[in-house]
Parts: sequence; C-alpha cells; structure tokens
Amino acid sequence: MRNVFGVDIGGSGIKGAPVDLDRGDLTRERHKVLTPQPATPDGVAGCVAEVVGHFGWSGPVGITFPGVVTANTIRTAANVATEWVGVDAARLLGDRLGGLPVTVLNDADAAGVAEMRFGAGRGRKGSVVLLTFGTGIGSALFTGGRLVPNTELGHLELHGHDAEKHASTKVKEDEGLSWQHWAHRVQKYLAHVEMLFSPELFIIGGGVSRKAEKFLPLIKGIKAEVVPAELQNNAGIVGAAMVAAGG
Ligand code: BGC
Repeated sequence: MRNVFGVDIGGSGIKGAPVDLDRGDLTRERHKVLTPQPATPDGVAGCVAEVVGHFGWSGPVGITFPGVVTANTIRTAANVATEWVGVDAARLLGDRLGGLPVTVLNDADAAGVAEMRFGAGRGRKGSVVLLTFGTGIGSALFTGGRLVPNTELGHLELHGHDAEKHASTKVKEDEGLSWQHWAHRVQKYLAHVEMLFSPELFIIGGGVSRKAEKFLPLIKGIKAEVVPAELQNNAGIVGAAMVAAGG
C-alpha cells in the first residue's frame, strides 16, 4: 500500500487525510478546519499545518489551491486573499510543515485527476470536462486522459458576468435560488462550455455532487453525458496526493 497525504484548500474549509494511492481512497477519516477569513497565506498555512499535524504525518504532501498554479507558484486568487499571488506555495507550506516535500496544484485539476483514474472519468479517452461547483466554479479539461492544467472555465463570461458569479453553489445560497432556477443557470453554462469544447462527458463535482438527483434531471439539451463526480468531496484530496506521488 502506497500512502501520500492530500490537503484540499477551499474557500470555506481546509481538509485533508492520508490517501491510499492504490485504491484512490482515504485511509482515515478526513480532518477539516474552517478557512480563515481573510484567507491569507499565513493564516491558511497555519491551518494546513494543523490538518497535517492532526495525523502526525511525515512524508510527501499534495495540496490543492483554489486558483491558477504553475510550477507550485500561485498566479490568481479569486476567492482567497490576493496576497497569495506570486507566492511559492510549495516553499511556504513546506516550511510550515517542517520541511516535508510539498506539491501544489489547482483544486479542480486535482479533483479531475482523481475522477479520471478512480471515478466517473475512468477509461474515457475523448474530451472530458470536470466542473466543481462551490464557492467558485473550477474546471479540469482532459483529452486522451491527459490534463490541460489551469483552464479556469469558471471565469467564462455568462450574461455579462463571470460565470461563477452567476452559477456557483455560493450564488445559489446567497440568492436563495430554487434547484430549478439554479439548474437553469447551470444548463446555460454547460451549453456555453459545450459550444467551446464539445466534450463527450461532463463530470459535476464539488459538495453539490452529493445532491445530484435534485438538479441533474432538471438539466436538458446538453449533447454530452452529464454525470456526478463519484469521489464527491474527497476528489481534491485524492488527486492532490496522486500528483504529489508523481501522477
Ligand atoms: C478559481 C479557480 C478554482 C475555482 C474553484 C475559481 O475562482 O479561479 O482556480 O479552481 O474557483 O475553487
């Protein structure tokens, strides 16, 4: 059994657990702390150290971040403090973890990597788009099973707005939208992404994937298959650990 630790930094919670890379599952119940507000580099690093320390872990750690990440460096921060931009997150977080080897990648990309190996995207060779609905909208694009990183489709323009300001689950909650009303927005968004990429499959992830039966049947007119993520809210943790282990 090969184990690596995975941490998922989200807009509302920071959670992590050791991951069994052969099964694509957590080996222990995950530990979660609330994301500090504002979510500054220092505050978030302290929370990551608490989550990893909870398990007494020493070994490689994969960490997701809700923004563009190239070569472990943060490039955008739409839903966390802007001080993150330009930070070498692997160095910052690795130092806080007492020098453990750290790999950092985009949260939706991590979720996608896990779903393609162990979940709803298993064996799919055509274009697949995974979308995570939460505080923002994250995206991961695969073709031939390979990830095109940092696609940021949550920031496509929809009705004159950033799509995630129109169709995320945070917007559903903040505006008190019914499932019907929200599903209609998601449908418009999927149609737009479909026009651009013609994927064979959409995988719908994020916490809301647990409630797929409430909104997926309301989404009509999309040519691609639309299915819920199978690893649900653990996909980010599992994918981060997989990438830290070398893919
Ligand atoms: C960020 C993405 C992230 C998504 C989900 C967006 O605001 O720009 O990088 O994947 O939120 O957290």
